[in-house]
Amino acid sequence: MNTIVAGNWKMNMTLPEGRDFISGLQEYLQGKNLKSQLILGVPFIHLPLSLGASEAGIYLAAQNCSEHSSGAYTGETSAQMVQSTGAEYVILGHSERRQYFGDTDEVINQKIKEALQQGLKPIFCVGEVLEERQQGRQEKVVHTQLERGLAAISPAQMEQIIIAYEPVWAIGTGETATPQQAETMHWSIRKHLSELYDLHVAEKTPILYGGSVKPENAREIFGMPNVNGGLIGGASLKLDSYIQLIELAEETV
Ligand code: 13P
Repeated sequence: MNTIVAGNWKMNMTLPEGRDFISGLQEYLQGKNLKSQLILGVPFIHLPLSLGASEAGIYLAAQNCSEHSSGAYTGETSAQMVQSTGAEYVILGHSERRQYFGDTDEVINQKIKEALQQGLKPIFCVGEVLEERQQGRQEKVVHTQLERGLAAISPAQMEQIIIAYEPVWAIGTGETATPQQAETMHWSIRKHLSELYDLHVAEKTPILYGGSVKPENAREIFGMPNVNGGLIGGASLKLDSYIQLIELAEETV
């Protein structure tokens, strides 16, 4: 499976800054034939940049969408609106959405269904908090998130879904899961997918690791057998470090 280098800009980058980043990346990609797949999770305002970017092999993702299709939901953005910009992906279930905006497993499940309905590919995030890991409950917690988030999602729909394992204690903290901790959880997620679906789904679903990935630690993480790439926050905000991550991913595919 090709390595996926997915950035998550979170709430960063003005429109000119986003434009500069993407045009700089297009310039870097000129004449290159990458094996890894590039995705940038950007604030909604940047999504129209998709139209020029995908030709260069840069795919954009929204960082959220509404669980509703349309209507009187002031301030919300629907999956159909995201799709109409040319964006291909949407990050759903990120721990910051769960923590600060009340996205429950049930709401996330609704959003995943709505995104799929509108032809978007969800990047579905799961991960435990520190206390859960200290209690040794991390696999149980992640399995429950998977069961609830993927409720009534068919094996065929699973072909459109990427999973991102993001231990909450490793996000923005500088503390990374060890490559072995990531591998153990990714293996456990795959095993659980084989129980919820079948071996084919378990093998074909890309599982990204997220949480303080940076050029210094990416080689080892990307090199783990069940890690198919990264969902990268801080280190995706500077073009040079994002490019370094791409180059490390190219070494592993
Ligand atoms: P950091 O890479 O900044 O830890 O963020 C990870 C993340 O939340 C990506 O979605």
